This record gives sequence, structure tokens and C-alpha cells, in this order.
Amino acid sequence: MSGGKLLKTLGGTRFPTPPIWLMRQAGRYLPEYRAVRATTKSFLDFCYTPEKAVEVTLQPIKRFGFDAAIIFSDILVVPDALGQKVWFEEGEGPKLEAITDPAQFGQLSRGRLTEFLQPVYRAIKATRAALPAETALLGFAGAPFTLACYMIEGGGSRDFAKVKLWAFKHPDSFGLLIDLLVDAVIDHLTNQIEAGADAVQLFDSWAGVLPEEQLFSWSLEPLVRIAHGVKARHPKVPIIAFPRAVGPAALMYRRTDAFSAISLDTGLGAHWAAKEMQPHICVQGNLDPLMLVAGGAAMEREAIRILNKLGHGSFIFNLGHGVVPQTPPEHVAQLVEIVRNWKPSAS
Ligand code: CP3
Repeated sequence: MSGGKLLKTLGGTRFPTPPIWLMRQAGRYLPEYRAVRATTKSFLDFCYTPEKAVEVTLQPIKRFGFDAAIIFSDILVVPDALGQKVWFEEGEGPKLEAITDPAQFGQLSRGRLTEFLQPVYRAIKATRAALPAETALLGFAGAPFTLACYMIEGGGSRDFAKVKLWAFKHPDSFGLLIDLLVDAVIDHLTNQIEAGADAVQLFDSWAGVLPEEQLFSWSLEPLVRIAHGVKARHPKVPIIAFPRAVGPAALMYRRTDAFSAISLDTGLGAHWAAKEMQPHICVQGNLDPLMLVAGGAAMEREAIRILNKLGHGSFIFNLGHGVVPQTPPEHVAQLVEIVRNWKPSAS
């Protein structure tokens, strides 16, 4: 059995200190990442070069000894595989040829996804073979709503007006896009599991822009359908859901029929999560990524506070969102030390 402490924690075992990994742990804050990244101009070509994806996936494991590696890829490989034009502009982030009309859905085809994303699956297979047995390998995908945000807005957005107005005014056609993405994400996660991923995480990074009822229809319900679809073939593989910035609506994600853990953003208090979430489901999170930039006593105080609140229950230490590029790598090493040396108080 590979995957050690993280998989066991997801299965309900408690350890004296929680497992730790960080969202975006492979990335531009590491000089060794920047060196490999510099050898390929296009970010997607970089993602689709298995040797490079394997190398950068392993970098943070070698440096920090995290309990999990997350395969180096991107959520936008799914729209790319479906046939939408996706590219990354230096300093600007992702760009997509925006979908403006349901008539364009016909151009998206799920049939070629598995073939198209073979480089990702090859990278997973090689990474699993290279990782220590006790390090879990995580696969991942973007949630349908978050993918729809990029596909309809044509990139990032300040107000998400296009995607929200489409969902609010034309729920039937929006639902067709979400249905297509549910099926595509089931395929992508299943393929990652079959290539060697030990667990998977669903990133619903923009769920928080939806009002509560819409959140149910366009975030929770599609995520549960994905989880059930994946579980139909791989019932034992844990699924972590990250519904970012949904506030107390995180309560409705306590669906143990679907998820093994919920990843919490920084907006949710550790005290609240210990009372309201943890008795029902394992939680992951939720140090502010800028605490990791600040480092020193501020970071230590906050990490210990989170550990004291959540470390007694079912818990995976992580950030509330991804590591940012200006993070000093030494602070990451210090954080791992703090978590591994934490002594549970008697409370
Ligand atoms: O280490 C890991 O976490 C694994 C790799 C990973 C990346 N993106 C690599 C990446 C993962 C899990 C993602 C997920 C992802 N991608 C999300 C969900 C998580 C979140 O941040 O909310 C989203 C929304 C995306 C889409 C995306 N990809 C954006 C908005 C950007 C640009 C932002 C930026 O920081 O510039 C990317 C590019 C990207 N994906 C980079 C990395 C390391 C930086 C680009 C580069 O190295 O050239």
C-alpha cells in the first residue's frame, strides 16, 4: 500500500501530528522550478511534457518531504482536451477563446479527452514509480463551475458577470455545459486514478461567486455527481473537495457519500471548522498563503493556532489557497518543521 500518512488520515486514522502538503507546492517560488520552466516557452506544452512534469512534481517532495505530491498539470487541460482554444499569456494568466453561445457546445468533444491527455497520465505513472511509498500522489481536476467560468469569461474575471448571467438567465443551456464537464471530469479523474493517483482533489476555486441556491445546483450537485461517477469504478479512492470562498455554505459539502475531506479557504475560522465540519468530515487547510510569505513569529503563531484548533481531529495541514510566487522557500521548510514538531495540548 502506497500513500502512507495522508491516505490513512483520509481513511480515518489519527496521528500525533497531521500530514502536510501545500496547494501549488510546485511552482515559481522554487528556483529549481523556474530553471525547468525556462526550458519550455508554452505553459501547456510544459504540462504535456511528462519528463518535465515528473521532475517539477518531485521537486517539493525532495526539498520538504511533504506527505503528498500533486501531479504538475493545470485545471485548464480539460477545456483544452475538449477542443476549446486555451493559451497562457506571460504575466496575464490563462486565456481561452470564450464560448458566447450554446451553439458552440457542439464543437466540444469528450471523445478525444483520454487520448489527448495521455501525457498527463504518463507523468502520473512515472511519478508514482519514482515517489517514496509513504508519499501519496494526488491527481486533480477543476470543478465544472470553475471550468465554466474560464470557458465563458475567456480567462480570469473581476466580476464573473458573463458566466453568472448565463447561469441565472439560461439555466437549461448552462446545465448542458455543466453536464458535459461532469462527464469530462469523471473521465479525467478516472484516468488519473488508473495511471496511479492515490487520491484526487476537485478545485472549485470560484464557487464563492455564486449565491447559495445556485451554489447547490452548480457547485455541490455537480461535484457529488462526479464523486459518485468516480466511485462507481474506484470506490476506495478518496476525493477531496475545495469549494473556495463559500463561507458557512461549506456546511452543505459535508457529504461523506461523496467526499473524504473538505479543503477550507482562509475565510473560515479554524474554531468554527473544528465545531461544525470536523465532527462530520476530515478537513484540510487553511493557513493564509501570505502568512507563508511573512514567515517568522507571525507564521508560527498562526500555524500553531490552527494546529491547536484542528490538530486533535481528522485534519490535513495545508494553505487556504495556493503558494504564491514571492514565498521564500525557507519559510516552507520552517512550516513543515512547525507542523511535524507540534505537541498536541491536553485539551
Ligand atoms: O503544485 C500544484 O498545486 C500542482 C499544479 C497546479 C497548477 N495549477 C500549476 C500552475 C494546480 C493544482 C493548478 C490548479 C489551478 N489552475 C487552479 C485551481 C487552484 C487555484 O489556484 O484556485 C486554477 C484556477 C488554475 C488556472 C490557472 N493556471 C491560473 C489562474 C494560472 C495563472 C496564475 C498564475 O499564478 O500565474 C495558471 C498557471 C499555472 N498553473 C502556474 C502553475 C505553477 C504558473 C504558470 C507558470 O509557471 O508559468
